[in-house]
Amino acid sequence: MAKTKVAILGFGTVGGGVADVLAARRFADIEVTHVYNRDYTRKLSRPQAKKLPRTVIWTDDINVILKSDVDVVVELIGGLEPIEGWLKKAIAAGKSVVTANKQLIAYRGAGLEKLAAKKGVSLLYGAAVAGGVPVIPGALQGIGGDEIVRISGIVNGTCNFILSHMEQGAEYAEVLAQAQKLGYAEANPSADVDGYDARAKLCILSRVAMHAELNPDEVPTQSISKVSAVDFHYAKELGCTIRQVSRAQVQDGVVHARVGPMVVPTESPIAWSHGTQNMVVTSGRFGGDVVFSGHGAGAHPTAVAVVSDLLAVAQQCGVVHQPVRKRAVVGEFLAPHYLR
Ligand code: HSE
Repeated sequence: MAKTKVAILGFGTVGGGVADVLAARRFADIEVTHVYNRDYTRKLSRPQAKKLPRTVIWTDDINVILKSDVDVVVELIGGLEPIEGWLKKAIAAGKSVVTANKQLIAYRGAGLEKLAAKKGVSLLYGAAVAGGVPVIPGALQGIGGDEIVRISGIVNGTCNFILSHMEQGAEYAEVLAQAQKLGYAEANPSADVDGYDARAKLCILSRVAMHAELNPDEVPTQSISKVSAVDFHYAKELGCTIRQVSRAQVQDGVVHARVGPMVVPTESPIAWSHGTQNMVVTSGRFGGDVVFSGHGAGAHPTAVAVVSDLLAVAQQCGVVHQPVRKRAVVGEFLAPHYLR
């Protein structure tokens, strides 16, 4: 059976998550053949490294990947440079790209998409927005027939983790440190708390769902770092709480966008999202509101989005997924259970 050969660029939190998911799901038609990581020797002792096939070639030289016969490059490093140049070369060499890189897709996605279309390869970035929540495939396919006029919600897990814990009385600095320890926050957490991560995601969503090309630098963006316990106190008195909300709306043919802490009524679904939960509500002219919700950050949820994109690429290459089958048995649940 023809296998889709995959190179992973970056073996950090999400890269390790991808190794975990692929090892557990055992898709017979997907094979990781290369891993690029600067100073990769440090990574070899990670338990996730041991889950990859023993035949994997580890390298700190990107040219090894670019000159290899891999079908798909999975980019999990982040940032604009040198990544854009690498991915352009990969696409020019006929490789598809799967990436979780929101800044790259927000700022340079349109150009990369044109290049990919010209070369007849795929560029998928479901993991770039809302981690494991399939907002991008949903907006493209599930509700692609509608005319989306508004997108609003929570697209940064770290801010939601911080604000929903502050709502319960936790201290800002303490929860931020916890989010960093758990691997939710960006390498520089300013990207999270100051809203740059969320606005990049909002711009990607606007392009995908509203066909509006926004410049992230022009989106009014406010930090959550100034939110304090007293703000929660007053919000509560109004029957509200505080969340970092990202919103883009079409008005008279113009897209208005904004990211920042907002006072949200406690009965709003947005207020119910806790921890790293992301929630995106799309409003369509014909279909009305659709809610996407789930874990927006963390190794495994984000890895699910990456692996799902990988499967989509493999399918476009004509490969049929063959996960290892479970025995089909009908059994009782072992204990009483409740639908939640
Ligand atoms: N730092 C990001 C977040 C990771 O907290 O949402 C997922 O994009």
